[in-house]
Amino acid sequence: MGASMSRKHYRLEMPGRFAKSLETMLVAAALCGATFAAAHGQMANAPAVPVAHEVAGHGQGAQSGNDPWWKHAVFYEIYPRSFQDSNGDGLGDLNGITERLGYLQSLDIGAIWLTPVYPSPLVDFGYDISDYENIDPQYGTLADFDRMVAEAKTRHIRVIMDMVMNHTSDQHKWFLESASSRTNPKRDWFIWQDPKGYTADGKPIPPNNWISGFGGSAWQYDPRTKQFYYHEFYKQQPDLNWRNPEVEKAMFDTVRFWLDRGVSGFRFDAVPSLFEDQKLRDNPALGGINAQGDPILEDTYTNNLPEVHDVMRRLRAMVNHYPGDRVLIGETYLPSVQELDKWYGGSKHDELQLPMDMQVGFTNKLDASLLRQRINDAETSIDGNQPLFVFDNHDNKRSWDRYGDGVHNEAIAKVLATLLLTSRSTPLMYYGEELGMSTSVPTRKEDVKDPIGITGWPKEKGRDGERTPMQWNGEKNAGFSTASTTWLPIGVDYKTVNVRVEEGEPDSMLNWYKTLIAFRRSNPALRNGTMVMLDKNNPSVLSFVRKGVDGGPSVVVAVNCTGEPQTVSFDLRAVGKSISAKTVITDAPSLRGSSKLKDIALPPFSSWVGSIQ
Ligand code: BGC
Repeated sequence: MGASMSRKHYRLEMPGRFAKSLETMLVAAALCGATFAAAHGQMANAPAVPVAHEVAGHGQGAQSGNDPWWKHAVFYEIYPRSFQDSNGDGLGDLNGITERLGYLQSLDIGAIWLTPVYPSPLVDFGYDISDYENIDPQYGTLADFDRMVAEAKTRHIRVIMDMVMNHTSDQHKWFLESASSRTNPKRDWFIWQDPKGYTADGKPIPPNNWISGFGGSAWQYDPRTKQFYYHEFYKQQPDLNWRNPEVEKAMFDTVRFWLDRGVSGFRFDAVPSLFEDQKLRDNPALGGINAQGDPILEDTYTNNLPEVHDVMRRLRAMVNHYPGDRVLIGETYLPSVQELDKWYGGSKHDELQLPMDMQVGFTNKLDASLLRQRINDAETSIDGNQPLFVFDNHDNKRSWDRYGDGVHNEAIAKVLATLLLTSRSTPLMYYGEELGMSTSVPTRKEDVKDPIGITGWPKEKGRDGERTPMQWNGEKNAGFSTASTTWLPIGVDYKTVNVRVEEGEPDSMLNWYKTLIAFRRSNPALRNGTMVMLDKNNPSVLSFVRKGVDGGPSVVVAVNCTGEPQTVSFDLRAVGKSISAKTVITDAPSLRGSSKLKDIALPPFSSWVGSIQ
């Protein structure tokens, strides 16, 4: 079980102590190694590669052989408040998303995941749901939703909803009833407890030491019924009691509501937190104080309890009754790949199809050895299940800033995109990642919208920085809205970092993504070839082969994770009598047109993808 920092936490990096030793990641199946030596190279630009589609007109919704669609789709997370405002109120909405589907189709996105758009008091910007079966008027109506899903379908884009099962809003009717009296039939739908005692001056003492992920005690006292209720997040987000079967039934009904409406799956929010220890034991202290000023605790008794897997199995069985391979994705910050494997149901494959792998994307340093180890873990330690890699989301500083060194950010971002889109994993992107959008951290407390930033200021400035509006063009509000002010400010770099400008620049971040996505979608080795690490002791260059399928060509990928030039040579006799590899994609001009497999000179932070001849 991991530390409290290991699960959901937002800005807090994955603790290094979960990294396994290098030895453990060496695979028996490894192919020949390669040699490398430092050499000189030049920083360079990306050539545009023609966009190829595997099945004309079918897009990613189409199946390839027996593979379910979600294995090959590129997933794209949209934060609806910030994607496109269609009615000039400064907030993004569903009709705005519908207007922008053409852009997503041009990227060849297979599925969009919308963060919550349900009715909500918006204390946690939608993650506090007051009605699971409707749309918040700020975002539109159910009719707008249906139209968006239908139009997305015509563009071969599927829609994934965010489902928050751990907690509701304190304004949800279930909680209002539950809180109304100790004898209300819904009392046991939430986690109510008597005080542990009272202080000398009569103040109730919380039942135990559990801390909210958003600061302070996780217990809120209700003077009316003289009990505390438990909230993993804000006090306005009371946790449901998953030990009560009525809760499961009610929540599964809401899942069915959206499945019946045609959604293609769900991303389950904070799902490892569904259960808490029945004995309410104190979480062990790890020592130290976090950014919110609370003691740092292990989450032994509040996270990733084994009971949750029974729910996941029942959920999967229920969803399996629907046609069309509906997909279940988990927000699964976990301490190790072994824990992650359990979320698939291990070798039984009977829980989530795509729990998120946060081990790779949140290492937060471009360390070839560490990334190799983590990617290899995902290849070898999840019982043949399909990995889901993600580098960006609405809860963490953008990868542009987490991995960037301030000098080579674009080249580094291209390295990350290359890893995301050439590995075997299903890729999950976050809006604006394809543009190289950066984090716009608020500079004044009075500008902060995210409550974590308000309570944690100045140590914790909240998550507004990674949620600023999508940058479409260099015009007013970056083309996001016609309003005089937008809910969050537009990133200061919008004049140059935007869709319109980048579409016109062959070497832009956007064209890098388009090129990689197109190659991934059309190349059989990238679609289905096994992945084998090369040059496994190289601390600077991460390289691997995706083996050719049915005798077709293999693809070799090498990324320089350092600010120094590096030279690599590959001995690929194990994948055929390969003596050369035609360059397919690179941002190093010196490597364009090259077909060498020996002495490949990689400029600092450059990426190279070759097709083995
Ligand atoms: C979401 C956050 C949210 C939290 C509480 C998460 O894991 O991604 O944005 O604040 O759950 O619902």
